[in-house]
Amino acid sequence: MAIERTFSIIKPDATARNITGAVNALIEQAGLRIVAQKRIQMTRGQAETFYAVHSARPFFGELVDFMVSGPVVVQVLEGEGAIAKYRDVMGATDPSKAAEGTIRKVHAKSIGENTVHGSDAAETAAIEIAQFFSGNEIVG
Ligand code: CMP
Repeated sequence: MAIERTFSIIKPDATARNITGAVNALIEQAGLRIVAQKRIQMTRGQAETFYAVHSARPFFGELVDFMVSGPVVVQVLEGEGAIAKYRDVMGATDPSKAAEGTIRKVHAKSIGENTVHGSDAAETAAIEIAQFFSGNEIVG
């Protein structure tokens, strides 16, 4: 399988609980490399752009409010089949449905406060990475 890059966000519920290192440990144990990482306060505009695909959903306002409620850690993860692998490592969106040992099973609080985001496809990974990182900030 090809080496890929995927985009990750460690969300405000995780920064609030000071568990970004615990999340990163699960990422690294799965064989993914963190090749870029920064802690930021997302603006409302950044969150609305990032989640534009969900703008018609009833939970959109709640989602944007949550994503700007505290700092997040944005990351680029690299590895073989990184996009699918990270989705496996995260577990299901709803933590009550997530498999044992996944980030969301271990750490997430609810479907909204679900600790991490990961890209769902190669095309979205490229768009999401470019929203938050310039090329020289990614060091593989
Ligand atoms: P994420 O992978 O970041 O992509 C979209 C997010 O919308 C998702 O994780 C959830 O955090 C959030 N989401 C999905 N469904 C709901 C819901 N029913 N209520 C609140 N938030 C949701």
